[in-house]
Amino acid sequence: MNISVNTQALMSKPKIFVARAIFPEALAKLEESFEVLSNQADRIFTPQELQKALSGVVGALVTGSERIDAGALSEASGLKVVANISVGYNNFDVPAMSTAGVMASNTPDVLTDTTADFGFALLMATARRITESEHWIRNGKWDQWSIVNNPLGMDLHHSTLGIIGMGRIGQGIAKRALGFGMKVIYHNRSRLSEADEKACDATYVSKEDLLRNADHVILVLPYTSENHHMIGAKEIALMKPSATLVNIARGGIVDDLALAQALKAGTIFAAGLDVFEGEPKVNPELLKLSNVVLAPHIASATEKTRRAMVDLAVENLSAALDGKRPPNLINAELFKN
Ligand code: DGY
Repeated sequence: MNISVNTQALMSKPKIFVARAIFPEALAKLEESFEVLSNQADRIFTPQELQKALSGVVGALVTGSERIDAGALSEASGLKVVANISVGYNNFDVPAMSTAGVMASNTPDVLTDTTADFGFALLMATARRITESEHWIRNGKWDQWSIVNNPLGMDLHHSTLGIIGMGRIGQGIAKRALGFGMKVIYHNRSRLSEADEKACDATYVSKEDLLRNADHVILVLPYTSENHHMIGAKEIALMKPSATLVNIARGGIVDDLALAQALKAGTIFAAGLDVFEGEPKVNPELLKLSNVVLAPHIASATEKTRRAMVDLAVENLSAALDGKRPPNLINAELFKN
């Protein structure tokens, strides 16, 4: 295990664990108040290493690559808070954390616009075949590119965008789509208020109607065990052959193998993926295809936003260890004051 210990830390400072590399300024700030065990080498810990790292600390800053469940917590009797540097928290077993009396927090809001921007960027790259075109140039094949009917893309402007998951980020994408003259349809666990629908000019439809009618489908919903593989072969078959599918939500919502097979068969036109089942591994069938744009889970990855996410996670952790309510506490029942 590659953990560095700040030896200058006072013995009396409470111990915390930082599971992945963070900004040096944020680490320095934490070291003012805590003895910090930090994995600045940024290697993903095995479950056993994570369990060991959590034993003997009072708080931890983690990311989606750390699964916090009963096993991880089994030796963490002093642990009070785990702050996720992420809005999604499907890496948390929240009931297990609550049972262990461990506060859980996430980082909503600060990444909404950055993630909505990226959703749109991935949609455009997918529909207009940007990465595929770049590969033609890099492979010295521009002269084989037909000037008139070269591999052609699909329009975004004045097309129909289907958004599945209409939380803050989904609504941000809908508002961007208005600027492209797109018609927006959406599906969500619960329908938006009239005022919110109006602000996005979005129409609520069933999932099936959305898949049948959208020219572009984008997934922006949180992962739960209920929506595992909610987009599989059957759902993809409902989509138009000219349609694109973009997933910026979570791996596991789409059946990646079924998607690869559909892309290969031409069931849909193209896909853009920022998240994958079992990431950082990617289904090898997807890697063989030119009609899929792949990104390594970077939707919130801008300098400003990642700093804001780390700062918010630090604020959540510090509040909990200070006896205050973390601003983004997930298991609210643990804070009674
Ligand atoms: C999030 O915040 O949920 C993003 O996917 C980064 O993990």
